[in-house]
Order: sequence, then C-alpha cells, then structure tokens
Amino acid sequence: MFTPPFILSIAGGGSTYTPGIVKSLMVRLQDFPLAEIRLYDIDEARQNTIAPVVEKVIRDHSQRIKFTVTSDPEVAFSGAHFVFAQMRVGQYKMREQDEKIPLRHGVVGQETCGPGGLAYGLRTILPMVELIDLVDRYAHEKAWIVNYSNPAAIVAEGVRRLRPNARVLNICDMPVAAMRNMGAILGVDRHKLEVDYFGLNHFGWFTRVLVDGEDKLPELRKHIAKFGLLTEDAAKTDPQHSDPSWVKTWRNIKPIMDNFPEYLPNPYLQYYLMPNQIVAHQNPDYTRANEVMDGREKKLFAAAEEYKRTGILPDAFHVGVHGEFIVDVARSLAFNLRSRHLVMVENRGAITNLPYDAVVEVPAYITSEGPEPIRIGQVPLFHQTLLQQQLASEQLLVEATIEGSYEKALQAFTLNRTVPTMEHAKAILDEMIEANRDYWPALQKAWQDGE
Ligand code: G6P
Ligand code: MN
Repeated sequence: MFTPPFILSIAGGGSTYTPGIVKSLMVRLQDFPLAEIRLYDIDEARQNTIAPVVEKVIRDHSQRIKFTVTSDPEVAFSGAHFVFAQMRVGQYKMREQDEKIPLRHGVVGQETCGPGGLAYGLRTILPMVELIDLVDRYAHEKAWIVNYSNPAAIVAEGVRRLRPNARVLNICDMPVAAMRNMGAILGVDRHKLEVDYFGLNHFGWFTRVLVDGEDKLPELRKHIAKFGLLTEDAAKTDPQHSDPSWVKTWRNIKPIMDNFPEYLPNPYLQYYLMPNQIVAHQNPDYTRANEVMDGREKKLFAAAEEYKRTGILPDAFHVGVHGEFIVDVARSLAFNLRSRHLVMVENRGAITNLPYDAVVEVPAYITSEGPEPIRIGQVPLFHQTLLQQQLASEQLLVEATIEGSYEKALQAFTLNRTVPTMEHAKAILDEMIEANRDYWPALQKAWQDGE
C-alpha cells in the first residue's frame, strides 16, 4: 500500500466523462486524498477543450492539488499511484460505424454487444496493452489501473491473455446503475443494498437484493412487472441514462422478467434476448452514437466554450454512479478496505460450471492486492449455456486479435447470439474490416486460394 496523498492519472482525459469523475474525486477528497491529477490523451485538441472545465471543477474544491494536462506518457504516468483508464479507440465516429454497419444487415447495432462490440474489441485490446506497458514503465510499481474502457469483457479477456500479471481492475457502472434504480424503487439508498450477481460484463443476472438481510427481489419483481427497472418518474431515477433510448432499456427489464422472472437481468441482455424488437426500434441513420454526439458531447463542448468566453461554467455534465463507483473501488484498493463491489475477475472456480479461466463479473471484496471474488457455485443450465456461448464469442474475438486470424473473427461473429447466420456474420465482418482499416490488426485467412 502507498501513502496518501496520491498521484492519479486519467487516461482518456478528453472523455465526456472526465469532469464527472473529477467532481466525484473532489467531493471525496477527505477519503481519498490527492496530490495531483493528470489528464492524458493522445487527442491533444480534444483534451485541451475539456481540461479548463476539469481545472475549474478542481479549483472549486482545492487550490493545492497539482493539475497536469499532457500527451506525453512519461509526464502522465511517472510515479502515479492510480490510473483511471477510459479510452475510446476511434472515438464516437467509430462507435457510429459499430452501430450502423450491423443495422444495415438487420442486426443489433450496439457499442458493446453483438458485432459492434466485437469490432470495438478488435480496436481496443492492443492499445489497452500499450497503455498497461506505459504504466508499467513509468508508474509506481504497485500502481493500479482501474479500467472503464469498453468493451470491458473483451478488453479484460485480452489483458488476461496478454498481460496476466498486470495490476488492472476492470469495472463497469451498469450493475451499480441498476442498483441505484433498485434503491430508488425501494426507497433506500443504494449503499444499503447487498446484491448477489453472476455473469459476464453486460451479460449477467442479479439473484438476490438484500436490504438489512431481507431479500427485496420479490418486491422489485412486482414493480418491474409494471414499470420495468425505473420509478414511475423515470427522469428522477437516472440522470445519467435519461435519454429516451435509456428509458426504453430500463423498461425492457419488464418483458425479460415477464418470461424469466427468477433473476433480474443486466439491461444489456435485451440485445441478446429480444434483438428483433431492438432492431425494429433502431434508426439505421441515427443511432446512439449520434444521440451522444448531439447530446452529451455537444453540451460539454458548448459549456467549455462558454466558460472560456464568460468565466462562468454552465451545468453540463452528470455526477453520478459512474464517478462515484470508480472512486469507491479506488479507495478500497488504496486502503485495503475490502469493500464488496461487482467487478470483473478471473473465475477460478467462483462459478463452478463456467471455465476456470473465464473473466466473469461477480461480487468481490476489493483488497489492496486486488479483488477476492465470492463463491457463486453452480448456475442454472439456461444461464450457463447463454454465458458459455457469449464467452466463446468473446474469447474467439480475442484470439482473432492476437493471432490476426480472419477465421476466428468470423467464428466470433457467427457465434454471437445477435447474429442469425454465417452469411450475416461474414457480410458484417467484411464491411467492418474496411471501416476499421486504420485501427484493426490485419486479419489473415489461413486457407486463402493458391496457398
Ligand atoms: C453504461 C455502460 C457503459 C456504457 C454506457 C453507454 O454506463 O455501463 O459501459 O459505455 O452505458 O452510455 P451512452 O450514454 O454512451 O450510450
Ligand atoms: Mn459498462
């Protein structure tokens, strides 16, 4: 363990999430003392746009914290204790492609699920490994990378294969966002909930929701049967995911639980269990990436502009579970608090009927040496089978990336539940290869004509 105050670097400093994360850090300074915050991004211009907003957030709380903005990895990571990673390789422009290419073939177009997630994985694994190596070279030897970079399941598997000893903790805010909604429905603070959960990232189920030792899942089931996983007043429940498409997503917990009421699904299961409805509601010319570019991103850039002109910073970003969660996890790592959080971790028998080496998402106690998962035991055949298939798709994608294998990429696409046929898989993959020329490793066919 290292002694506070800490040096913290944010890799992907130009993200729209950076101000919210930094705000969360500022309100927790007593619990998580910081000497310096460094923003690091390879897109200097974008980071320079966001940086004054971040600086203002810091200065509203502290004059002492040193603030550094850099594109130089040595400056960014030297002596750092924590690195919060949130890279988006190819930015929203490429997210748009991930969503639109599958949709043109009548297949779910999504950032982390289906072909879009696989494409994003092929872009992100190797840059993530580069980041790990830079942190390894420059940062404190016990530094922790807390990683939000998507597609988190694939990134985590890639890191496990390529850098098995790296001190990286892969996290996602979706379970905790779901818990916030549960709390709102039950009328209790989300910190009062203790949940059991099993699955992969963006692919899992809550099996128990305890409040003071009592399982509230039956009460939630009744509510969800009417409203989905939202209070009646949707906007109040979730300021971060309040766009209409997110409201729809939370509502879709209802049709899933109407059919499978036993457990409460991660919202992302809608893409695998009801892809037809999803595609029917998606506009192939205007997807979530467009919504985000025209919404969250534009609003923040406009606020940065206005702040530069007037010195007044308009209200332009959310402070919510996304920022709170990463700070909670980092605190537990820093001070060996052993707090219980849902994180990604190598299975190692936690789920007895999934492979030993699978990266799973389960509750774990976060110690200064990393997560200690709780024991889940055996999961039902239905869930196990869904998980195995998804895991295989993601693992093949990782192998495709590492080996530069076209066949394995095609297998990954074909195995994904969102993709109906081999022909769909191939057509989408081939278009994506074109669109990702600047980002993907070259994929070779082992059995090419004439070889
Ligand atoms: C949730 C997920 C993230 C994902 C985000 C997308 O928070 O956990 O993994 O990136 O939603 O939200 P957006 O507003 O960009 O569609
Ligand atoms: Mn996530």
